[in-house]
Parts: sequence; structure tokens; C-alpha cells
Amino acid sequence: MTKSLRLAIAGLGTVGAGIVKIVQQHGDLLTARAGQPIEIVAVSARSRSKDRGVDLSGYAWEDDAVELARRDDVDVLIEVIGGEDGPAKAVVETALANGKHVVTANKALLAIHGQNLATLAEENHVALRFEAAVAGGIPIVKALTEGLAANKIERVMGVMNGTCNYILTVMEATGADYADVLRDAQELGYAESDPTVDVGGFDAAHKLSLLAATAFGTQVDFGGVKIEGIQRITLTDIKNAADMGFRIKLLGVASMNDDGLEQRMQPCLVPTNSPLGMLEGVSNMVIVEGDYVGQIVLQGPGAGEGPTASAVMGDVMDIARGLLIPVFGQPAVTLAKATRSNIGMDAEYYLRFSLADEAGVMAAISTTLGEHGVSINRMRQYNHDGDIAPVIILTHEVSRAQLDEALGVIAAMDTCLEKPIAIRIETV
Ligand code: HSE
Repeated sequence: MTKSLRLAIAGLGTVGAGIVKIVQQHGDLLTARAGQPIEIVAVSARSRSKDRGVDLSGYAWEDDAVELARRDDVDVLIEVIGGEDGPAKAVVETALANGKHVVTANKALLAIHGQNLATLAEENHVALRFEAAVAGGIPIVKALTEGLAANKIERVMGVMNGTCNYILTVMEATGADYADVLRDAQELGYAESDPTVDVGGFDAAHKLSLLAATAFGTQVDFGGVKIEGIQRITLTDIKNAADMGFRIKLLGVASMNDDGLEQRMQPCLVPTNSPLGMLEGVSNMVIVEGDYVGQIVLQGPGAGEGPTASAVMGDVMDIARGLLIPVFGQPAVTLAKATRSNIGMDAEYYLRFSLADEAGVMAAISTTLGEHGVSINRMRQYNHDGDIAPVIILTHEVSRAQLDEALGVIAAMDTCLEKPIAIRIETV
């Protein structure tokens, strides 16, 4: 009889339970496609008695997840505990050192320790796979490391946090407050336990750093991602952007510039009628541009039980089929340390000013912009809000440094009543 591929699952939250369901419900399909049965032999979580809606009675239980990684009857350790250190790191390191393959959904762990863990996996000739860590159910890591492996990647970008996309699209559709929509996202199970990780852009930045390493052959450099969250985005900006033909997205972009790797995660305006602009709710979208393939757009659910478990099990299937490719697409020892780009590409910007309603104020603003080389593309003044004149300006391409200088001068004017808002318009 064909030997089974034996799994252990560390962590039985939403994703862990989803993995159990797939293995239990799709046994025949997995066996047929993998060429061998896939079975769960042992599990571990914080509470043994909690009802997770799945039958765990056939599996060995370990109170300490690290013990899973030491068991002789385990071939693949699945880590869905989460967190960049603590038990997740200990379990993964122990499993790799003991010659077991590891599949993880843990973006924070890999964003911080990816290079060391990849080296450990490759030294031990085992797989370390992380499809579920980036954009949930979208097979973007496979796309980069396999289907697009012959391309020089020019840019990788996308919306990779479902919670933020949900908040921004629901705010626009319903006019609801940021705080109320965030609460809904938490209740629906999209948000991380600390939602600052989502709305502050960190979760998506973890994911972007993993894609950048895979796309550009550099060591993961999470510290090199310029991160700005969506907390300062107001309904006013969402409505103004819509009025001018744009949507605001928390967009991650990585590119290899002449002076090094640029990685940024920040709210951006994208055209409403572009694929990114049309992305609704908790969905994710990743766009890859390769020199031979052109542009690839992948869209799908970026969070939740089913999509994340689907991605984990896709990696397990590859291991069952004997696919052993380097963690980030090329051997870890050949990944170059990333040089961080300082230039940053010029861009068009959306600017919002809250100005005193007095003669000459607009003239002063446009003169200051002009003196700093900031050219105005479109301009709109909305109805006065009390004594405040809200003014929106879309610029032509300009460097962020020049723009910031101009905005600094304007912010210091008595007639500028609130700190000006500047949001990048991304070319997509
Ligand atoms: N909190 C994440 C999101 C889950 O909203 O996309 C997947 O990382």
C-alpha cells in the first residue's frame, strides 16, 4: 500500500479548522491528485476542550506545539499559530532542524526571519512553503516561483489586506464611519487580533516584503518597506476621489529602481475603472509585470478559513508530489541583501486643503506650488464648510520631496486651517 503523507497541525483557529475540513472532506480527491493519501496524525492548540466544529478524535494531541515537530510519525508540519516569534518560530525551527517540511500561513514570521528560516530549510533539504501567507487563496507565490520564473520582474503590486479594502469600499458605498466598518470587519473574522496590524498597513507590508524577495532575488527586507496605514483616510477624501474618477486603496508596490529596491505600502488613488479600482470588499488583487509576459492580474479572497486553508493544502500537495523548490524561488545563499532605493518614482498626487475663505488664498497656494515645481493638473473647490473652503488639487508628476517642501510652506500659512492631505495617484 502507498505510504501516506503525514501532517501535524500547530494551531487550530479558523485556518487550522479549515485544513482539517479539507483533509476530511476531500480525502479521495487529494489521494488521486497527490499519488498518495494525505492524513493528519497530530494536532496542537491552546485549548483542548474548545469546540471547533471538526472531529479531532482520530488525531494525537500535543499540549506543546513544539512536540509536534519532534514526532517521528510526522512528515509535514503546518504552522497556523501566527506571530513573528514565540511558539510559531520555535515550532518551525524545530521542524526544519528535524528534517520535516513546513507549510506556514505566517507572514509576520517570514517577514522578520525569512532569510534564516529559508537557509535552515535548504540546509536540511526540506520545503518551507508560505503560499497562504500572501493574499490568502490567491496562488501568487506559485505564480512568481513557477509560472513566471523565466521573467525579469519589473513591478509587483497589489491590495493585500482584506480588512482595509473592506473598510474603504464599505465606507464609500454606505457613507458609514471608519470605526463602525472596522467593527464589522472584526466581527466577520477578517481582521487580525490587533486591528492596528491591518489598518496600520503592517500586515500588507509583511506580505509585500515576501513578494519583493521572491520577485527580485533579494533577502526579505521588511524594515525597508515604507508603511502608511489607512487611519488618516476620511470619508471626505473617499468621496472627493470618487468624484474625480478614483478610488482609494491601501496599495503595496515593489520595484527594482536604478538605485535599489523600492517597497511601499500606502493609501493610493487608482482609477475607478481599473481592475484595482473595481476591487470590492475583502478581496485581494496582486499584479505582476514581467519583461516577457507583460501584466498578470490575480484576484481572489485574501482572508478567511476556506481560502487560507486552500492555499496551505496547495503547498501540501506540492510536497506530496515531490516538488522541492527554493523557498524564495532561488537558493537562500544566493539572495542578495537588498539595497534600499532612495529616489522613489515621481507620481501625480491628490491634495486636499482646508483654506480660509479670503481673497488671495487660492493665488498664494498655486504660487507656492508653482515655485516648488508642482504643476496643477485639475482643481476643484467644494461647498464651504462654515468658514473653511475645501479645495482639491490633482498634480502632474512630481517628486515627493518637492511636494513635501511646498506643502510645508503652505501648512505654515495662517490661511491654511488644517494640515494638507497628500495621497499618491498610482499608475496601474
Ligand atoms: N487580516 C488579514 C486581512 C488576514 O484582512 O487580509 C489575512 O492576512
